Formats: sequence, structure tokens, C-alpha cells
Amino acid sequence: MKALLVAGARPNFMKVAPLATEFAARGVDAPICHTGQHYDERMSRLFFDELSIPRPRHDLGVGSGSHAAQTAAVLERFEKVLLAERPDLVVVVGDVNSTVACALAAVKLGIATAHVEAGLRSFDRTMPEELNRVVTDAVSDLLYCSEEAGVANLRREGVPAWRVVLAGNVMIDTLLRHRERARAASPRARLGLPDAYGVVTLHRPSNVDAAADARRLVDALVLAAREAPLAFPMHPRTREAFTRHGLLDVLSAGGRVVVTEPLGYLEFLGLTDGARVVLTDSGGIQEETTVLGVPCLTLRDTTERPVTVERGTNRLVGTDPAAVAAAARDVLSGPRVLRVPEYWDGRAAARIVEHCLSGILGRVSAERSRWLAGGLRPDGGSREVRTPEES
Ligand code: UD1
Repeated sequence: MKALLVAGARPNFMKVAPLATEFAARGVDAPICHTGQHYDERMSRLFFDELSIPRPRHDLGVGSGSHAAQTAAVLERFEKVLLAERPDLVVVVGDVNSTVACALAAVKLGIATAHVEAGLRSFDRTMPEELNRVVTDAVSDLLYCSEEAGVANLRREGVPAWRVVLAGNVMIDTLLRHRERARAASPRARLGLPDAYGVVTLHRPSNVDAAADARRLVDALVLAAREAPLAFPMHPRTREAFTRHGLLDVLSAGGRVVVTEPLGYLEFLGLTDGARVVLTDSGGIQEETTVLGVPCLTLRDTTERPVTVERGTNRLVGTDPAAVAAAARDVLSGPRVLRVPEYWDGRAAARIVEHCLSGILGRVSAERSRWLAGGLRPDGGSREVRTPEES
């Protein structure tokens, strides 16, 4: 048995780490293929070192580019790796361009493909990640969900139940494993922050690329920083955009927003764990703050992770400066909430790996043979196509 694990961009690395560990613990050869989507030391290698992730056996070195160019480069280069490795299973995680490209390359070669963190939907198809999620789920054989909403979305999309498993959140496996070390690694003092501080991350193209959107967010942060000083580890895309728009000085002018380079996993987790509030447009940080019990203000109008709002501390506040500042004031004076979602317990990767090794790959290949033999529809399901007159 050989499982090829795909890691492409920063939010993938903490998800691949526990999967690599669990496959290795069961004696399964599980090499890692790094697509090179993220390549800066602080966006990639640092995470492998801190999380003791095995060195990738393959590094595709695709680097940055337009969505089409980056996705196409991964598709083409990953196919060669698949032909050389001939794995029994490909595991992709998350929703980045590398995720969709590798899933597509694998299924087209008839290789069983599992998507970890399946079924999440923001229902906003202007987000590149939403398109990646929809396509990856549509082509993958096995779909491991981190929350109930993922299962419900896939059911609504007509995915047969046997392909879908509510396995829990692999990113939380990593968080729970490293929380103590992370607390000790917090850079709070080095950054000159008092006990009561907030953390900011922003990198979505819809928030930072255009000057007007970026300006609105900077105004929101400057206002919110009056409530508590903010640490802002800045993604390279954001730094480039803010520099282009002349906003870095505006942000730092009042001395209440401390801008830093991107932080490593342990430093960032430690900083977040000690924060009184987090302001973000990230997906994963909404989940991490839910488990840490730190109030999270998501500077977006939608979330693909609704459990963080229903059970956790997350609020969707949009980007209006006055609304963001009011929400920051509110959570800074309010009580903390801690209601961790089901299966976010540190055992998600173990559940996934056990399921992959349970004989399920036989069912995947039997299904594929049925398609090849007769062009049969999966599971013999009824065809519900309506003519224009019927609908
Ligand atoms: C990608 C993911 C996003 C994820 C984010 C986490 C997609 C569509 N987006 O967005 O879902 O939340 O990663 O960080 O896959 N850059 C560097 N060094 C690097 C990587 C990127 O300087 O190591 C800069 C480059 O200017 C690049 C830009 O960041 O053009 C954007 O990188 P890219 O990988 O295209 O998307 P992200 O914005 O990082």
C-alpha cells in the first residue's frame, strides 16, 4: 500500500503532518509531494521543520503565477510523479490551487483520491477556494469532512453516502499536539505587546488587492486598534498590495498596529492563543480560534465553516470600519465561549487513515470497474433529468 500526500501551500502543511504520522504508524509508505505553490522559507520550510513533517520526496517547484498557470503547472508536473510512484491512493487537503490540480491529475489516471476537509461551501463562487472545493469534491472518490455542514452539503449535491465520512478536523490534531510548545514560543514580548492585544491576518484577494477595499480594511484596523494594540503578521501578497497602495505607513502611523513578517506555526499559534481578539479573513484561523476559545471577527460576509459561528466564538462582521471596531469593543468586554465541535479531538487523522485502510479502496475500484464496464451510473441511482417542458 502506498499513499501519496499532497502539500502545496501554507494552510496545507499542518493538515498533512498528522496524516503522515498516522500512515507511518501503520507501516504505510506515504511519501509527500510538495507542489511548491508556497516556497518562501517562512511560508513553507519552517512549517516542515517545526512540525517534523518528513522531507517531501517530490518538489514540483511551481511557484507563483496566475490561477490558470499555477494550476496547469501542478497538473502537468504532478502527473509525472504519479506515473513514477504509482500510488494506491492520493490524499489532497484543503482548498488551494494545488488541491484541485492534484485531485484532477490523480482521478484521470484512475488512482483512488481522497479529499480531506471536504464539503465546505461558502456559496460564494467569486472565491477561488470555493471553485477549488467544488471541483475537488466532484472528482474525488473519498470525502472526509471536518464538520456536519460538509456532510450536509455533499448530500445535497448528490454524493453517495458511502463516499462521505465525518472524520473531524486534522488541523486541530496538529493544534492540540503543539499547543504547549506554541505557548512558550509566543513572540508577544518580542513584539512589545501588552497582555491585552489582538492579532490580525488578511490575505484574500477580494480584501487586499484593490486599493479601495484595502483602504477600508486599513481604516477598520486603525479604529479597532484603539480598543487593543494589534499584531499583524503580513502575508507576502498583502505586503505587496499595501505597499503598492501606500497603506503600510497609514497602518503603522498610530503605533497601535505592529506589522511583522509571516510567523512560523508555533509562534503564530502561541500569539493567537494569548490574544483577546483575532481579526481575520482566513478560513483555518476561524477554526483554530474556536478551539482556543479566542473571539474571532471574520472580515468577510460568508464562511464555509459555519460550525465556528454556531458553536464557537466566530462572528462574521464584514469590512465596514465602524462595525469592525464596534465588534472588537464588544468582544473585548464580553465573556469567552468554548464549545468545541464534534470530532475536533486530536484523532481526525487516525480516523481517516483507518478508514482508508479498511478495505474501502476495494469499493472505490469496484465502482470504477462498473463505470468502465457499462457506463453505469454510481450506485444505480435514478436519473432525475427533466425536459424543459417538465421543469
Ligand atoms: C493561497 C491559497 C489560499 C490560502 C493561502 C494561504 C489558492 C487559490 N489560494 O493564497 O486559499 O488561504 O494560500 O496563504 O490556492 N508569495 C510569496 N511567497 C510564497 C508564496 C506566495 O511571496 O511563498 C506571494 C507571491 O507574490 C504570490 C502571492 O503571494 O503571487 C500569492 O500566492 P498564491 O499561492 O498564488 O496565493 P495565496 O494568496 O498565498
